[in-house]
Amino acid sequence: MADDNILSGDKTDDAEASLEQSLRPQLLAQYIGQDRVKHELGVYIEAARKREESLDHVLLYGPPGLGKTTLAMVIANEMQVQIRTTSGPAIEKPGDLVALLNELQPGDILFIDEIHRLPKIVEEMLYSAMEDFYVDIVVGQGPTAHPVHFPLPPFTLIGATTRAGMLSAPLRDRFGIVEHMAYYEVDDLEAIVKRTADIFQTSIKPSGAHEIARRSRGTPRIANRLFKRIRDFAEVADQNAIDEAIVSRSLTYLRVDEAGLDETDNKLLRTMLDYYDGGPVGLATIAANIGEETDTIAEVVEPYLLQIGYLKRTQRGRVVTMKGYQHLGVPYPDQK
Ligand code: ADE
Repeated sequence: MADDNILSGDKTDDAEASLEQSLRPQLLAQYIGQDRVKHELGVYIEAARKREESLDHVLLYGPPGLGKTTLAMVIANEMQVQIRTTSGPAIEKPGDLVALLNELQPGDILFIDEIHRLPKIVEEMLYSAMEDFYVDIVVGQGPTAHPVHFPLPPFTLIGATTRAGMLSAPLRDRFGIVEHMAYYEVDDLEAIVKRTADIFQTSIKPSGAHEIARRSRGTPRIANRLFKRIRDFAEVADQNAIDEAIVSRSLTYLRVDEAGLDETDNKLLRTMLDYYDGGPVGLATIAANIGEETDTIAEVVEPYLLQIGYLKRTQRGRVVTMKGYQHLGVPYPDQK
């Protein structure tokens, strides 16, 4: 995934990280959107707190940039426990996992991002940790090797993934709470942009906030990034409030089109039309053609195009819909 593409939904440098930190809501009541998820979690959190128990394990899944990590931190705050965060690829061997688990206090949360990328041997160790709060580790080597039973405090595992389908059934089944994060409604993104503008003490007109929201691919991380860049354009143009006109001009520079699609989205659609008559075509073929990782297409690009109905999935591959043709200004072929 290209780091220089601000629309890629990828995380970038430290400054960005601290910015995102300051934008993060602390409580469920401050978290905008995802109403069903918030309501359900609110009930489970309150019940666990009343019973003075740890919260059941939580799986959050959905496209990148929708606030899964933020939500995990909000849950920790609401439960008034500590959270340790890591990611699937960062836990290379069982010892790494034991080290993390060893530091947990009763009720604490372990957050594992990209949990679908855990090594198998580590994943298997999680089964007993999640179910019965222990791990069996092998200590020593060769003839002196022996298993040691290692009890753990009750804890909550929060796993986040963009690819729920890639989780093994035994792991998935051990999460008592499974929540799907959906793309945000424009109204919710508008509220997020206004909140961000407030934090940055930047004046923004409702029409400006609406336009950013409308063109952010349903994704708060993208809305916040576009906001930052547009704020730069406004500042250089000596404009004291962000309005719809400066948003439109800035987004033209940033190559975000009317529908909020970026260059990669358009390249994908265009390639499917130009070389495959609009499909059906396989994901790996599309990825190779436009020079992107198959994972990026599957996790970032395709889900939004499916959501807005520009693409559809068939048994034989992906197909551009009539709406997709219209977007590119190409007549829909009669024989389709
Ligand atoms: N910033 C990013 N995502 C947010 C959300 N869902 N609610 C409030 N602020 C946010």
